[in-house]
Amino acid sequence: MNDDAFATDVGPSASAAGGSSPVEVRVAPDTFARWLANDQDLGHSHEPSTSAAARTSSSAPSRRVRLFSSNDYLGMSTHRDVRVAAARAALAHGSGPRSSALVCGYTPAHSRLERSLAKLKGTEECVLFSSGYAANCGVVPALCDDASCEIFSDELNHASIVDGCALAAKRWGAKVTVYRHRDATQLATMVRASGANRVMIVTDTLFSMDGDFAPLRDIVALKRAENARCGRARVLLCVDEAHATLVCGHRGSGAASMLLGQNQNQNQNQNQNQNQNQKEVGRRECSSVADVDVSVGTLSKAIGSHGGFVTCSASMKRVLVSVARSAMFSTSLPAPSVAAATAALRVNEAVGEEMRSRLRGAIDAFAATCAARIRETRGARCGGMSDDAVCRWVGVTVTGNSPVVSVMIGSEGAALAAAAELLRRGFHAPAIRPPTVPANTCRLRVALSASHGLGDVRELAEAVADVVGGDGARAGATAKL
Ligand SMILES: Cc1ncc(COP(=O)(O)O)c(C=O)c1O
Repeated sequence: MNDDAFATDVGPSASAAGGSSPVEVRVAPDTFARWLANDQDLGHSHEPSTSAAARTSSSAPSRRVRLFSSNDYLGMSTHRDVRVAAARAALAHGSGPRSSALVCGYTPAHSRLERSLAKLKGTEECVLFSSGYAANCGVVPALCDDASCEIFSDELNHASIVDGCALAAKRWGAKVTVYRHRDATQLATMVRASGANRVMIVTDTLFSMDGDFAPLRDIVALKRAENARCGRARVLLCVDEAHATLVCGHRGSGAASMLLGQNQNQNQNQNQNQNQNQKEVGRRECSSVADVDVSVGTLSKAIGSHGGFVTCSASMKRVLVSVARSAMFSTSLPAPSVAAATAALRVNEAVGEEMRSRLRGAIDAFAATCAARIRETRGARCGGMSDDAVCRWVGVTVTGNSPVVSVMIGSEGAALAAAAELLRRGFHAPAIRPPTVPANTCRLRVALSASHGLGDVRELAEAVADVVGGDGARAGATAKL
């Protein structure tokens, strides 16, 4: 294929004017009305802002909506290299991979992607799955496969972990115990009291709804102490890095390396940052990401493609490919998804740090603007408080290095009204309600991306400050939706 002709078809890179945007869409008036009324719509609900349909529909003007609801944290899904790679793979190989990996669905491209992911994570091996959901549903029952196993799971773990645990319980009789969110003390008490022969601790590293991090250092200390006490590897640690991969850690390797330190395989090409990390590692009594036994990830968030994966040791991979049913009995990833993810990892190597620095800029701008607006409108009550504290005071939690901002509202009605008010101002940041979160902890989930313009981030931060903490939400609740 002629590269130049193809480049014209694809258009300029996402960051250039006129390129397809990962963070902005045009919404038809009737769809906009349905969104305002929270009428679920699985149809053609919006057009990319630069699509032909969006440009030419003249009967009724569409609305510009800025998406703060996508998990494409780096804007990778529309990066030119990623689109070109996916399109080329589709032209060369078509879409359907035709069978599961174990039959004839595994190609050299799948193998290359696995190697790239293992390199990113500093592990020996990687196994691809059809999604992150399938990875969790495969890994947990594969590794907890008899009634002498007990699984300890954070109460705010993602639904796919919850379902993986349920499968292990139903199929093998494994015991599942849920511990309070991020409560390493309660977890330690429970693990020490457990009579199980084998224990798995499973946790998100960056929690998808609250944007906070698991207490990994405490969990690793617990694992080490228990294993030393038993004189064998009784406790196994499984983490889900769906939201942290390419977002946190050295070269985007994830939150585990950020919180625990890198392992030896990742310590090539030392630079200043790495030296700093080494000192950190020393302070943490040499805990490292190598203390993680199995790490689940997805290709569908910051990697900007589709699919799931698990990184682990070579021996663990041998187990997974022969017993993880969601890998064995499911068609392998389509060639365009594999090519897109592989290209995204190359983009990450080239410009990932720049992208992450833009993302950090968006996080900082959000916190500073939101706090300034709160001070301006409720100044008397927040003198002398830091930006973070001011935000938290009204229920807005911005966690450093996390692209997910949680805006606690409370009741379902108030959360829906707050989301509708943001939508009227041109922002999509959906209300998160039960069963995703417990009753009366309904919130808005704001997902920031390196692709967001700082002007849009600041405008949203002001809108959030206006709707949060009762006043705006109450005003919105009385408005006709
Ligand atoms: C923590 C976590 N794990 C797993 C998944 C599932 O990933 P996928 O969308 O690839 O199925 C998600 C998706 O939202 C998630 O948030």
